Amino acid sequence: MTETLQALLAKAEAELPALRTRPEFEAAKARYVGPNGELTGLMKRMGSLAKEERPAFGKLVNEAKARLQAQLDAALGRLEAAELAGRLGPAVDATLPDPDPGPGTFHPLTLVREEMCRILRKVGFAVADGPEVETEFYCFDALNTPADHPARDAQDTFYFPEAARFGNVARRNPGEKYLLRTHTSSVQIRTMLQGPPPIRIVSPGRVYRRDTTDATHSANFHQLECLYVDRGVTVRDLKALLDYIFASLLGPETKTRFRPHYFGYTEPSFEVDLSARHLPKVNKEWIEIGGCGLVDPTVFSAVGYDPAVWSGYAFGMGLERLAMLLYGIDDIRAFYQNDLRFLRQFA
Ligand code: DAH
Repeated sequence: MTETLQALLAKAEAELPALRTRPEFEAAKARYVGPNGELTGLMKRMGSLAKEERPAFGKLVNEAKARLQAQLDAALGRLEAAELAGRLGPAVDATLPDPDPGPGTFHPLTLVREEMCRILRKVGFAVADGPEVETEFYCFDALNTPADHPARDAQDTFYFPEAARFGNVARRNPGEKYLLRTHTSSVQIRTMLQGPPPIRIVSPGRVYRRDTTDATHSANFHQLECLYVDRGVTVRDLKALLDYIFASLLGPETKTRFRPHYFGYTEPSFEVDLSARHLPKVNKEWIEIGGCGLVDPTVFSAVGYDPAVWSGYAFGMGLERLAMLLYGIDDIRAFYQNDLRFLRQFA
C-alpha cells in the first residue's frame, strides 16, 4: 500500500502542474481527494492493515494528503492568475513613454463664456439655459418677429421636416415648425414665461444659421444673451452694464458706443460697438460686437407681463467674436478644428 501511495503522489506531481482549465482542475481534484478519489480509497483500505502497521501508514497518508492539497492549491492559484491575466490583456511595458498627454485645457470659448458669466453673476445675473431645438413661437413669434421677416426665411434658418417631433420641446401653437435656434433670444421668452419679474439672466449657448463657412462665418456659433426686467429700467442702465462687462473682460481702456438699429423685440434698438485698441491684432477704432435695446412692449404682452408696469433691457452678442478680440484670433474656423497646437495656447 505504501508503494501505491507513492505512485499516486508521483502521478499527481506530474499531472497537476499541467492543468489548464477549471473543468480539468475539478476533475483532477475529484479523482484524488473526492469521496470516490484514489487517496480516499486508500484511506478506506487502512482497516485491512495489521494493527501495528496502521499508525505508520496513517502518518504517511496524512503527509500525502497535505502534499496533494498544497499541489491542488498551487494549481488553482495558477489557473486564477491565468484567468485574471486573460481579462487584463497584454502586459504593460512600464518603460515605454507615457501615452497620457497630461491634463487638458479649457477651450477658448469656454474660457470666455465662463468669464462673462462670472462678471454678470457679480452684478446679480443668474445663468439660464434653453434648448437648441426651438419652435417658431419662442424663436420668432413671441419676439415680435413676423412671418415675413428675413430671419425666418428657409435660406437663413435650419427648419426640421414637418414630421419631426421633439418630446422635450413642447409646441405652443399646433402646426408650428421646429428649427435650430438662430439666436439665444428665445431664452428670454422661456424665462419670462416661467414667472413674474424681476428678472436678471444671462444665457450663453450654441446657435445655428445657414451661413457658408469662411474666416468670419460658421453655420453654428455661440451667443451670450442677457435680459433684465424690472420697474423703471432705462437705456442708461443698459449702457452702464455693457460698459462694466466689457471693461471687466477686456480692460478698463475699453469704450463702448451705441448706434441706432432695428430689432423687432427691442425699442429703441442699438448695435453695440467696442473700441479696444490695446488688444492684440485690433487695428480698427470701432468693432461691432452685438445688439441690444429696451424690451419692446409687444414682447411683454406675448408673455403676459403688463407693459405699463414693467420695463427692461436685453442684449445679445457672439462669443466667438469676443474670444477673437480678446485673444487676437483671426479665423473663426480655428475654434472648431480641435488642433491641439491652437487649443494648448489657452492653458
Ligand atoms: N438676437 C440678435 C442676433 O442674433 C442679437 C440681439 C439683439 C439680442 C438685440 C438682443 C437684443 O437681446 O435686444 O443678432
